[in-house]
Amino acid sequence: LNYCVPRTRKEIFELLVKGLMRLEYRGYDSAGIAVDGDKNTTKDNNQDIVLIKKKGKVKALDEELYKKDCMNLEAVLGTHFGIAHTRWATHGEPNAINSHPHRSDKNNEFVVIHNGIITNYKELKKYLNSKGYEFESETDTEVIPKLIKYVYDNRERDDLSFSTLVERVIQQLEGAFALVFKSRYFPGEAVATRRGSPLLIGVRSQHELSAEHIPIQYNNMGGGGGCKLHNRPEDSSTAVSVTGDGKGMEYYFASDASAIIEHTNKVIYLEDDDIAAVVSGKLSIHRLNRQAGEDPVRAIQTLQMELQEIMKGNFEAFMQKEIFEQPESVFNTMRGRICFETNKVVLGGLKDHLKEIKRCRRLIVIGCGTSFHAAVATRQILEELTELPVMVELASDFLDRNTPVFRDDVCFYISQSGETADTLMALRYCKERGALTVGVTNTVGSSICRETDCGVHINAGPEIGVASTKAYTSQFVSLIMFGLMMSEDRISLQGRRLEIINGLRTLPDMIKKVLALDKNIKSIADELYEQKSLLVMGRGFNYATCLEGALKIKEITYMHSEGILAGELKHGPLALIDKDMPVIMIIMRDACYTKCQNALQQVTARSGRPIILCCQDDPEVSKNAYKTIGLPQTVDCLQGILSVIPLQLMSFHLAVLRGFDVDCPRNLAKSVTVE
Ligand code: G6P
Repeated sequence: LNYCVPRTRKEIFELLVKGLMRLEYRGYDSAGIAVDGDKNTTKDNNQDIVLIKKKGKVKALDEELYKKDCMNLEAVLGTHFGIAHTRWATHGEPNAINSHPHRSDKNNEFVVIHNGIITNYKELKKYLNSKGYEFESETDTEVIPKLIKYVYDNRERDDLSFSTLVERVIQQLEGAFALVFKSRYFPGEAVATRRGSPLLIGVRSQHELSAEHIPIQYNNMGGGGGCKLHNRPEDSSTAVSVTGDGKGMEYYFASDASAIIEHTNKVIYLEDDDIAAVVSGKLSIHRLNRQAGEDPVRAIQTLQMELQEIMKGNFEAFMQKEIFEQPESVFNTMRGRICFETNKVVLGGLKDHLKEIKRCRRLIVIGCGTSFHAAVATRQILEELTELPVMVELASDFLDRNTPVFRDDVCFYISQSGETADTLMALRYCKERGALTVGVTNTVGSSICRETDCGVHINAGPEIGVASTKAYTSQFVSLIMFGLMMSEDRISLQGRRLEIINGLRTLPDMIKKVLALDKNIKSIADELYEQKSLLVMGRGFNYATCLEGALKIKEITYMHSEGILAGELKHGPLALIDKDMPVIMIIMRDACYTKCQNALQQVTARSGRPIILCCQDDPEVSKNAYKTIGLPQTVDCLQGILSVIPLQLMSFHLAVLRGFDVDCPRNLAKSVTVE
């Protein structure tokens, strides 16, 4: 929002598009923009809003903007507020209609951009439908502009501020959001708010900024929590402005500093439920009620970082960022799907096919690379919970064998990108043979999503690092949720289900504890990085961790690494063991504990120096270890989610120490779209 910082419309477009391009690394399937039009609308003198949306990359939107000959590109605009968004689909396929900004109605009275997920959108949509509001997209977001119009249409007074309308809207929303609103009824005004999703405000002034913080205005007038709200105090003396009248100010609302850093390094990070409004060039922030101990100001911070650094946050590489995102990404996979009160698990994309799946004669789970390992990791628990035979298959091998597939098979395709050629061909192969096909992907609208009969979106957020990390743990959780959904009416399995659901509830916190071991893992990497080879050994629920850990190591460190099933030790791998061969062993307290201890004896008897991933406080195992990494203990079938993280971290540190590009390993691609 520029306020008396004259810019041409073309400059405004460029600014918004460039900001979007900076955010493209978060995922892009469509993009959109809303700006003020040239006309004032009819009698009420309100500013019309022009909405332009396009499927594909931001570049496609950019080209579209200049095709709109209805707008004067050279017009110099004193005050102008434009919004833009790049989408990574969670609800609804990627297309122009589903992309943001979303609007309240055909006249674009209110437009909004949203990051996050509205979990109660179905209830809201039903209510708004019953009031005659018509929806045009398949998204959760669209309830927001409809809701603000509903609040506006039913307002009791004409002088309600824009931010009061927004305040009423967010009281009805559940889920996570960062929102920016624009309205033709409030030209030159911006309102933004967040809960759970990040949002910051960049402040740029033609004068020296005098304020160091913004005091929060509170609306301690009762009525909090309900729908009925009072107007907030319009106390502009507390708002940020330099010249007093707000002139010469420019404000940038963004979900990520990378979008705005080239314009200003002065930023304010909003907290959950803050509502920020710019009126007459002055920024103010308010909240409903003051909570005890709450900070009553928001600091204006000066960012020192370079653009590239900001995109990765404080991390050295996207892979490292993605490893550390796992408490949230795993939570996002479960959000809205597991009800911890009723122990019900509902995967919306599968529920209509559940009966058919329950009638099948076997499950075949197919993938490549890390996605295949997610299938290996969950095979045992799927067999236990579904009481069906489960085959896990590498897509290429499955095709090479012309594997027999039947109409009563259910075939799962696990793929982060949803585009892997072998997995896609395996899907087509099974479809031709009449099997029911189920996609488990991170990319809505991908080929695998489109071509399967039904599916699960793992909601891990875009993954940039070529070596997959957070997608693996989210695939793992998605497959477990499928098992839980299948076993809901099996009385004999209720105890087991409950144990797993409780384990899932505490999983994000447990992941945080594992991530806190990073320093310990780095110090082990310091000792190992000049080695040629690294073996990873385990069995049972942790066998997949060995395969996945070894894959991470070979992918980005270029060391030789092998995941070894401990049960096979005596059938060959034992010959590799001597005092010089580094070996990581996974020994958790589960049904394989004693057998793993036997393997440990074999290794130490040959002077091996095992680095052991075990449960915290396991003196029995630790005494035979060269080094230990103690992990918190969870349910046996979830332990693999915790045990893989130290190996993700280990491979990262090894690659950095060996001087390699962690995010772009040589010869490999993020998405392998050729056979
Ligand atoms: C490539 C990537 C791996 C990924 C595999 C399968 O090899 O480098 O990280 O696990 O493809 O990709 P998908 O997108 O199908 O999960």
